[in-house]
Amino acid sequence: MRLEGKTAIVTGAASGFGAGIARKFAAEGAQVMVVDMNHDGAMGVAGDLDHGAFGHVCNVGDAAQVKETVETALRIMGGVDILVNNAGVTHLPKPMETVDEDEFDRVFAVNCKSIYLFAKELAPAMKTRGSGVIVNVASTAAVSPRPNLSWYNASKGWVNTATKAMAVELAPMGVRVNALNPVAGETPLLKSFMGEDTPEVRAKFLATIPLGRFSTPEDLGNAACFLASDEASMITGVCMEVDGGRVI
Ligand SMILES: NC(=O)c1ccc[n+]([C@@H]2O[C@H](COP(=O)([O-])OP(=O)(O)OC[C@H]3O[C@@H](n4cnc5c(N)ncnc54)[C@H](O)[C@@H]3O)[C@@H](O)[C@H]2O)c1
Repeated sequence: MRLEGKTAIVTGAASGFGAGIARKFAAEGAQVMVVDMNHDGAMGVAGDLDHGAFGHVCNVGDAAQVKETVETALRIMGGVDILVNNAGVTHLPKPMETVDEDEFDRVFAVNCKSIYLFAKELAPAMKTRGSGVIVNVASTAAVSPRPNLSWYNASKGWVNTATKAMAVELAPMGVRVNALNPVAGETPLLKSFMGEDTPEVRAKFLATIPLGRFSTPEDLGNAACFLASDEASMITGVCMEVDGGRVI
């Protein structure tokens, strides 16, 4: 029960890593707000969790919806100890000049602008309380980019820099900010990174991971739990690889 009595918002928690993080947080005693634009997915994940978890629909790239989400979180949970900015999307792998403007804007709205919008709404409350933890889910793409995913890679580099900037600014107010850099993971998003899900493409991706397997929602849940817990009370501004050695 490492998060007993804590409250948490986890975005993109209807699926993949976000669902794994929400499950781990609830198993460790936190009340979790399962935020996603997928209504049925969010309600489904929340319905399986203990400690008063509830689902909430929000497009994290939309200012008005993020404002309403944070207001709802504060009203229902009384405060937010932990925010996990996990929701993310990619464009399909293709030469950089062929990604159209709408795709580019969508990647940056979901992967980057959402972090700004949640900070705008929630940082004041965390600063006033003098405590809080933010975990941003970036990617090994931020550190060791693969070709044909240029704008996705760049969006995750932005997340790593934003994490450090937020950490140094919020540290005097007792708020910690860290990032996770997962390697390719067993989630519905994996196919979008690979382009096509064939044994050959899987083998190519796996060949770059020294520990020889993809990451899992459980790996991300465990890492996020550590960073969100008081065990990490001296850790801020870190962008921690969960990557089986991929970026060594
Ligand atoms: N799976 C991987 O290989 C991998 C590797 C490195 C980093 N990541 C990152 O991990 C995070 C989670 O990815 P995943 O693999 O679990 O993906 P996923 O597709 O399984 O889950 C992402 C969730 O985010 C939600 N979402 C998408 N856009 C949203 C929006 N605008 N508002 C609210 N919710 C939205 C989706 O509905 C979905 O439930 C992302 O930030 C992704 O970039 C994934």
